[in-house]
Amino acid sequence: MRIVSIGGGPAGLYFSLLMKKSDPAHDITVVERNRADDTFGFGVVFSDATLEHVAAADRESHAEITSYFAHWDDIDIHYRGEVLTSTGHGFAGMSRQVLLDILQRRCAELGVRLEFQKDVTDLAAYADADLVLAADGVNSVVRARYAEHFRPQIDWRPNKFVWLGTTFPYPAFTFLFKESEHGLWRVHAYRYDASMSTFILETTEETWRRAGLDQADEDQTLAFCERLFAEELQGHRLLKNRSLWRNFPTVKNGSWRYRNVVLVGDAAHTAHFSIGSGTKLALEDAIALARALQRHGEVAKALAAYEEDRRPEVERLQRAAQVSLEWFEDAERYHGRLEPPQFAMSLLTRSLRVTHDNLKLRDPGFVSEVDRWFASRAERQSRVTLRAVPAPPPMFTPFRLREMLLDNRVVVSPMCQYSAEDGTPGDWHLVNLGSRAVGGAALVIAEMTDVSREGRITRGCTGMYKPEHVVAWKRIVDFVHAASPARIALQLAHAGRKGATRRLWEGGDEPLADGAWPLMSASAIPYHPYSQVPRAMDRADMDRVRGEFVAAARMAQEAGFDMLELHVAHGYLLASFISPLTNLRTDDYGGSADKRARYPLEVFDAVRAVWPPARPMSVKISATDWAEGGLDFAEAVAFARRLREHGCDIVTVSTGQTVPHQKPEYGRLYQTPFSDRIRGEAEIPTMTVGGIASYDDVNSILAAGRADLCVLARGHLYDPYWTRHAAYEQGWDLPWPDQYASVKSFTPRHD
Ligand SMILES: Cc1cc2nc3c(=O)[nH]c(=O)nc-3n(C[C@H](O)[C@H](O)[C@H](O)COP(=O)(O)OP(=O)(O)OC[C@H]3O[C@@H](n4cnc5c(N)ncnc54)[C@H](O)[C@@H]3O)c2cc1C
Ligand SMILES: Cc1cc2nc3c(=O)[nH]c(=O)nc-3n(C[C@H](O)[C@H](O)[C@H](O)COP(=O)(O)O)c2cc1C
Repeated sequence: MRIVSIGGGPAGLYFSLLMKKSDPAHDITVVERNRADDTFGFGVVFSDATLEHVAAADRESHAEITSYFAHWDDIDIHYRGEVLTSTGHGFAGMSRQVLLDILQRRCAELGVRLEFQKDVTDLAAYADADLVLAADGVNSVVRARYAEHFRPQIDWRPNKFVWLGTTFPYPAFTFLFKESEHGLWRVHAYRYDASMSTFILETTEETWRRAGLDQADEDQTLAFCERLFAEELQGHRLLKNRSLWRNFPTVKNGSWRYRNVVLVGDAAHTAHFSIGSGTKLALEDAIALARALQRHGEVAKALAAYEEDRRPEVERLQRAAQVSLEWFEDAERYHGRLEPPQFAMSLLTRSLRVTHDNLKLRDPGFVSEVDRWFASRAERQSRVTLRAVPAPPPMFTPFRLREMLLDNRVVVSPMCQYSAEDGTPGDWHLVNLGSRAVGGAALVIAEMTDVSREGRITRGCTGMYKPEHVVAWKRIVDFVHAASPARIALQLAHAGRKGATRRLWEGGDEPLADGAWPLMSASAIPYHPYSQVPRAMDRADMDRVRGEFVAAARMAQEAGFDMLELHVAHGYLLASFISPLTNLRTDDYGGSADKRARYPLEVFDAVRAVWPPARPMSVKISATDWAEGGLDFAEAVAFARRLREHGCDIVTVSTGQTVPHQKPEYGRLYQTPFSDRIRGEAEIPTMTVGGIASYDDVNSILAAGRADLCVLARGHLYDPYWTRHAAYEQGWDLPWPDQYASVKSFTPRHD
């Protein structure tokens, strides 16, 4: 087979040597525009896991690569005068130049032809090749040439970074945060041989401009950085090597192959330098492609198999890289606000790949320090003295909202059961909510309960609009209080334009075929094109509905609820005012974000005024509509800030369900980043909900300060005793009700 690699970086060289090794009859040429010993940048990082693949693919180059390794286990975080160290991370660095030297030598030894100083501008010269490898890096000319087939998407990230070297031999993978009069600077530094380290400096464009670096040449950049980090560098110098300020491009491609041309390495995909995986991906691509060709022989089949094999892994890593780069872009949000242990947890768990549990395996001392710090904060916040030694896992620390004390941080999410008779909850609700309270969650939020008959979603929804409702709810509240230490909240709502629909299992959000009642909303826009057109509320409607919320709050007090949650999410009546997709009003309640927030805040104030001061109130919001033209995230933050100013104690951060054409990005903890941002930027406690499935997630979220409480919906449908089971798994003693005390002598098995 005749193979040409355009580009002699790690991907091109490694693929070529693997192919030549598998069959010396292959005719392989690597065309590289630089000289053999030219390179940009300094060192590259590998994790131990990558190297296992490399060892298996070619023992010779692996042996040589590892002989040059600077190996380290620690991550050092320099933050506000402290250095926090977390160990057990298993990384190795080496010089990029040495890596290329080894791969070039190995290629030459096996008979790969290497042509240096040849800049490929036209692919016509390689028309007779059986396979053309586009290994020409992030600015790939081959990708550009066939752009309509590869369909590249390039997302230029806003931060500025520069890749420098230093003679300071960093003992660990080092993240350094430094504030100057211009703003916050982040350094990613690691040693790559006995005496040299990579030193990548990153900052926001505003800080960069304020520091005048938009006007600086390479030498001025170097001089500026040496002055800024004089103390940290302890007399060591910084070194340049085409050290220009850049923006990081996240590269993705709709397809990685076109005819006999295939993208590998940075030409196909990039992953931000903060997760140090670019070279790893390039080498793994090379291994996968070589393997596919060996297996399939025929080029078209092999390229399809390569893409199918690699794409999911690359996309998984790119998702992690995205969260990681966003963390660094938003570091101002955490810097100075989070205390050192929480800042370190937020940084270490930023991409969700590292969690509280696996950090505990790597470095038990670090995690117990974090847990101790978290517990002491919880003691102060809740005014409860914890006697446990060692400190409890974060999920089993108390939390206070006004005079309501929660024993732990797990909450049962409100979930409609569609099983009420004219709004009255019955035995199903008693058992449903009662068993979840006995199951160990500290707070149980009863389902969306409507303030009027017309405010219901379905005929089966619960309500709080007639005296029988107080009696029926009180029975449930009293049971929860008598049978468990759990607190119970009621979620008050009005369905708005999403009312008069079928029960979930009969077709959620689908209009009733008969017996529908008239609907109202912020504007006269139906949910589905074929749904009932709601009436746009006039001032008299607004007064009446506000009065219904107030009456329902009074009834909730009578029933003994510990907390109220106002439902301003998921496109129901109050949320319909917030979203620009559902609010087209031209009066004082539409238009700007402030005006759209006015009616929901008015209802909040009216309810807060009658709800006992000792009892807290939360508000559930949709922080994004997942749809074009929808709520801007800055508006969601501003709304959360206004809620705090109006006396809201905690915000439940949900998303979407505003419009049927939404495009949500579901996944593990998919809404937690919104909670993290609202908690940081609006400075209000948050509950996070959505895709939380493990106690490890709960501990990680809490320790990193991404939320104050963790809310599980479907997890609690699956397992009402979710908190009890999490306690068992963590060796935490959660008291059982007396009736169940003998369970202590039982050892559960699920296999
Ligand atoms: C600031 C920064 C820090 C990084 N840190 C790390 C890290 O710590 N760890 C890590 O693993 N990765 C890191 N990377 C990423 C890493 O450098 C790349 O992901 C990796 O080198 C990709 O390998 P590649 O072979 O696909 O591309 P490259 O290494 O970019 O190689 C492409 C080659 O093609 C050549 N070429 C391009 N166009 C032509 C042409 N028209 N004709 C001929 N030749 C051409 C180039 O000269 C180059 O030699 C970092 C990247 C940056 C920007
Ligand atoms: C059956 C069901 C009913 C729901 N009813 C409500 C509700 O009444 N009020 C509400 O705010 N959210 C409701 N939700 C949304 C959940 O509270 C939660 O926000 C969402 O399911 C994401 O959490 P999860 O991933 O833990 O399930 C409901 C979800 C389900 C599955």
